[in-house]
Amino acid sequence: MSARRKLVVGNWKMHGSRAGNAELLRGILAAGPCAAELAVCAPFPYLADVATALAGSALAWGAQDCSAHEQGAYTGEVSAAMLAELGCRFVIVGHSERRALHRESDLLVAEKAAAALAHRLVPIVCVGETLLQREHAQTEVVVQRQLGAVLALLGERAREIVVAYEPVWAIGTGRTASPEQAQAVHAVLRAQLAAATGQGASMRILYGGSVKPDNAATLFAQPDIDGGLIGGAALKAADFVAIGRACP
Ligand code: PGA
Repeated sequence: MSARRKLVVGNWKMHGSRAGNAELLRGILAAGPCAAELAVCAPFPYLADVATALAGSALAWGAQDCSAHEQGAYTGEVSAAMLAELGCRFVIVGHSERRALHRESDLLVAEKAAAALAHRLVPIVCVGETLLQREHAQTEVVVQRQLGAVLALLGERAREIVVAYEPVWAIGTGRTASPEQAQAVHAVLRAQLAAATGQGASMRILYGGSVKPDNAATLFAQPDIDGGLIGGAALKAADFVAIGRACP
C-alpha cells in the first residue's frame, strides 16, 4: 500500500447554479467520511458559497484557474491571493480546455503554478496528449515537455504540486485510457518528478478523463495512480462519492 493518500477532485467546469451546487454538496457531505481526500473545484462566482457550505467539513475546495499575475490591470482575471482568501486549497492550472481554447502555453501554466504556490495553494497541474499525438507515438514527449516547463520554473518548490494526467482524447468522451495505458504514463511522470525534486515517491499524480464509478477502482489500483480529476461524474453526488470510495 502506498504512503500517498488518494485524492479525488471534482472539476465542475462551467456547470452549476447556486441551488444546484448546494444540493450537490449536501449529497456529498451526507455520504460521510471517506478514506480518500476529496475536493471540488467550482466556478469563481460560487466559491464563496462553497466555502460557506464546506467550512469545517472534510471536503476541500478550489478553483479551476488563476492568473499568473499578482494583481493589477488584468480585466477578467482572478488572482491566487483572492482564491486563498476564499479558503481554496487547490487550483487547477493548465487544463487541456484552457490550453486549447485560451492558447495557454507551457510557460504560462508554469507561471500560474508558481503564483498558486506563492499563496500556499496546491496547483493541480494538468498534462496530456491529443489523439493525434498518441497515434504518432508522441505521448511521452508531450507530457514531459508540459511538466518539464513547470519543473524548470519551480525547482524544488515543485514538491508541493499535484499532477493530473488527462489524455485529451479521454476527456468528456466516455473513452477512458486503459489502466495499463494510464499507469505507463504515470510511471514516466513520476520518474520525471523524482529526477527534478528528489521526492517523486511522495508526490501525487491523478488520472483524469471519463472516470466513472465503474472504472475508477481498476484505475486507482495502479501503483502510480493516486486518485482522479473528475469532470462529468463529479456533477452527481452519488457518482462522485462512489468514485471516492473506489480508492483502495
Ligand atoms: P471528464 O473530465 O471526467 O468529464 O472526462 C475530466 C476533466 O476534464 O478534468
